[in-house]
Amino acid sequence: MTVRDILIHPDPRLKKVCAPVGDITPALQTLADDMLQTMYEAPGIGLAAPQVGELKRLLVMDCVKEEGAPPRPMVLFNPEVTWASDATNVYEEGCLSIPDQYADVERPAEVKVRWTDRDGQTQEEQFDGLWATCVQHEIDHLNGKLFIDYLKPLRRQMITRKMVKLKRERARL
Ligand code: NI
Repeated sequence: MTVRDILIHPDPRLKKVCAPVGDITPALQTLADDMLQTMYEAPGIGLAAPQVGELKRLLVMDCVKEEGAPPRPMVLFNPEVTWASDATNVYEEGCLSIPDQYADVERPAEVKVRWTDRDGQTQEEQFDGLWATCVQHEIDHLNGKLFIDYLKPLRRQMITRKMVKLKRERARL
């Protein structure tokens, strides 16, 4: 498995609508495995394929945070929200493509999601809590949307300017 470079906002690849995947090939399984390793190493709780420059409808996540609980690495190809609750939740979100920036985002508190798993099987599950927030945040990535797109323009521009500066500093290293 390979740890991939994570793209930092702003990057045109983070603004694209990603294409659905067809058959789950070994290459796609390798990409998913690499993404899980990249996510754990970061560390983060979710990662979408466009964040590693692959414009495919694929996300990985593991929102288990209880100390000592077994990990639950999840691979979701072509994920689709099939139901969302009217009740909403506010979570302070962050993103591996927008390091060290956090903001409250309101989303449906529970969602039902259908996807194709790593073995090509169709799965459907209802998520709540952090899992619901995470899966919606990652599906947004597949549609070229970032959590800062939910913020007021001034706040968004401020964060984007910080990221431009961060990328400039990193490029100099
Ligand atoms: Ni993100």
